Amino acid sequence: MSAPYRIGYGEDAHRLEAGRPLVLGGVPVPHAPLGAVAHSDGDAALHALADALLSGLALGDIGQYFPDTAAECKDLDSAVIVARALELVRGRGYRPVNVALVVTLDRPKLGPLRAAIARRMAELLSLPETEVGVSFKTSEGLAPAHVQARATVLLARLDP
Ligand code: C5P
Ligand code: MG
Repeated sequence: MSAPYRIGYGEDAHRLEAGRPLVLGGVPVPHAPLGAVAHSDGDAALHALADALLSGLALGDIGQYFPDTAAECKDLDSAVIVARALELVRGRGYRPVNVALVVTLDRPKLGPLRAAIARRMAELLSLPETEVGVSFKTSEGLAPAHVQARATVLLARLDP
């Protein structure tokens, strides 16, 4: 008998460079001095979320489904990655209940985007936005050209 609840956890990081866009949780960050160096759109928050969804059911990680060497993954919208992970979770008979996301970034301050990021991530998971908690941290200057995201997700069995 499979467990009624399962926990998933995921992380992602990207190097930042000037002259590139920065997208977090599906939301473009205006006035970001640095943007993500990535094969896809470099959305560390959505990559961490997708890995959290997959890990909760031991389904591996996003690199197995979307290799960063694949031409079709170039500039890929990370919403597609989350949608695929969600489909796999549902295929196993589970649904996400709530998400906790932590983004570590020195600049800019992301507080003004908290509601938009929660709303967009909730929308991608078909959840109310109250089920997505979003926290921000700086690296205290230790990693100024770096963005890091960590996500936990609770999964519940659909037919408990
Ligand atoms: O990293 P530190 O604890 O100094 O961050 C203080 C606060 O600044 C955080 O609790 C968060 O509210 C905010 N913050 C932010 N955007 C960031 C980093 C931190 O809004 N990029
Ligand atoms: Mg990534």
